[in-house]
Amino acid sequence: MKMWSGRFRQPLDPDFERWQRSIDFDRRLLRYELAASGAHAHALKNAGILSPDELIRVLQGLEDIGQQAKNFAAFSSDGDAEDVHHFVEKQLVGLIGELGYKLHSGRSRNEQIATDMRLFVRAAIDQLRLELGGFCAAIADRADQHRDAAMPAYTHLQKAEPVLVGHWLLAYVEMFLRDGDRLADCRKRLNLCPLGSGAVAGATLALDRELMSHALGFDGPTANSIDATSDRDFALEFVNALSLLAIHLSRWAEEMILFSSQEYSFITLPEAYSTGSSAMPQKKNPDLLELVRGKSGRVLGNATGLMVSVKGLPLAYNKDLQETQEPVFQASDTLLQMLPLLTGWMKAVEFELEPMQQAAQSGFMNAWAAATYLVGRGVPSRLAHERIGKAVQLGMERRCELEDLPLADLQAISPAFDQDFYKSLTLAAVLAIHDVPGGTAPERVRKAIHVTRKRIESLREEVHAHA
Ligand code: ARG
Repeated sequence: MKMWSGRFRQPLDPDFERWQRSIDFDRRLLRYELAASGAHAHALKNAGILSPDELIRVLQGLEDIGQQAKNFAAFSSDGDAEDVHHFVEKQLVGLIGELGYKLHSGRSRNEQIATDMRLFVRAAIDQLRLELGGFCAAIADRADQHRDAAMPAYTHLQKAEPVLVGHWLLAYVEMFLRDGDRLADCRKRLNLCPLGSGAVAGATLALDRELMSHALGFDGPTANSIDATSDRDFALEFVNALSLLAIHLSRWAEEMILFSSQEYSFITLPEAYSTGSSAMPQKKNPDLLELVRGKSGRVLGNATGLMVSVKGLPLAYNKDLQETQEPVFQASDTLLQMLPLLTGWMKAVEFELEPMQQAAQSGFMNAWAAATYLVGRGVPSRLAHERIGKAVQLGMERRCELEDLPLADLQAISPAFDQDFYKSLTLAAVLAIHDVPGGTAPERVRKAIHVTRKRIESLREEVHAHA
């Protein structure tokens, strides 16, 4: 039986009927639909609509549906059901008879889908944050392993200054931890229960909203029924947070691709995550990284699609909102599938410390430190910059580094140069300069790794506390 056929005299056009259904994709909300229906059943019993015995039978029916879905994956691909809500009603009636129809008393699918989606996004956030924690932990481990190795840092993709490999890798952890925080923030706002909102203007029965909210692990009921049934902010926030994560992953992937090219040779791609060319026998291609970069486009597309779907909608529920489900599922799936692979990649990649260090020691990477040497000897910063610029020019003419220039030539540029200048130019000396809290000197990076690991640990603990 349809959920709404009473007032219709003509049957639906069969093509339209098939086309407007959502069961093909909202069947994945089944477990949340069952949980929300269970909470609603309890409220119905308290309102005197279900007897205690009827409540037990309804709950048992819901339990059986969940069990069947677990045992048989295709169970919920029901050609006759309009959506997951209709599916559950049909199944329940099949199991416990007409009593099953009582479950819909005083509620609307509008509040149900709003609730199911919130439950879905909440669970996805927890899972994603765990995966993100695993990925960050893998990066932090590699940062620790190579914390004392040096590499060039770039600006404008031109060599700028030497940094520690540990410091470079922690930059990515910062981005990904912020992404995790954004997801946690979204979770906080979404964790309110729409049940009892009805179709738009509240339930037609005095249902205990606190009870339903509590049963589903929400922080409380939503405040406004019109808003609660039509709000998809949480979905937009979620997919936009995922877009930022996807953008960060794409930047990460791009840099790894670059550094794996023979021109850099800073990393060796793990064979387990690379592919060959069907034409060129020598090739090893960074397919995993390229797909990460490519899939970020999809996630941005999901976010854009969602925002455009919602932008022109008057209050409250409109069927357009059915279109907000798939982008949420797709974005969430894309990242959930990707993250464990990236963790595997991160554990397996080899960092080539020799070429990294070589690159960190050539190309006048110590020029700023050299200017700072002159500043230390009383030369005004702007003039020191100018003098070192001249020294760099001389080095370029002679095809040598600053430390290879004889003192006499340097003193011709500025009398402030002295023998100890050379000591200040070694890689170790340059790396040790920024020795303040949060700095880039070896001891500071070591501390940063320690603090970062603690932050990753507390992210994990926070997620586990929700379970
Ligand atoms: N399948 C619908 C959706 O996803 C459920 C809500 C239907 N509500 C309605 N008034 N037709 O949005």
